[in-house]
Amino acid sequence: MIYWKNNTNRYGIVAVSLHWLVAVTVFGLFALGLWMTGLDYYDSWYKHGPWWHKSIGIVLFLVVTMRLCWRLINPPPAALSGHEVWEKKLAHLAHTLMYLLLFAIMVSGYLISTADNRAIEVFGWFEVPATITSLPNQEDIAGWVHLVLASILIGLVVLHAAAALKHHFIDRDRTLMRIFGR
Ligand code: HEM
Repeated sequence: MIYWKNNTNRYGIVAVSLHWLVAVTVFGLFALGLWMTGLDYYDSWYKHGPWWHKSIGIVLFLVVTMRLCWRLINPPPAALSGHEVWEKKLAHLAHTLMYLLLFAIMVSGYLISTADNRAIEVFGWFEVPATITSLPNQEDIAGWVHLVLASILIGLVVLHAAAALKHHFIDRDRTLMRIFGR
């Protein structure tokens, strides 16, 4: 039996797929971002790297927006009964912060890329036009914010994953299995 939607007890396949698609993409974009900014001008990836990073970043924005809409019409299951109140509050805070960081990272990435008034080409499918282009020192400040927030997000994700592993291996509950749709 395939469960597309979440119910009070389990995550459905849509929420599970979106969770892991976003997770893999975020780690991939972080690694690509660090790698491409260290490349030499004469490296062939000096231009390809940012093209992939920006295209994937814009698609990720659409996917995270869809994920949030799906979450609004189809709320996640209730926390497991064994979880303490503080654990539930902390998990909820971490989830909210991850969504906020994701959007702030994507907005700052947009502001870096469009600071020179050029649109972002997304896989050659469509373009996202430049809008805000004259903030003081826009490219450098947005670049700094983008890197700092992305590093904070990765730190938070590591804590989030550690919490999930603690529930699995120490508390031996279904928290981790649920985000695999079990
Ligand atoms: C960039 C990486 C990740 C992001 C942005 C992320 C984000 C989130 C968010 C926002 C939720 C809340 C459910 C929802 O709103 O759909 C969630 C749930 C969950 N995530 Fe992640 N996650 C990431 C990686 C991981 C990893 C690596 C693991 C495990 C090793 C993991 C384990 C879980 C579990 C177990 C839940 C369910 C928690 C519950 O039922 O309360 N996540 N994740």
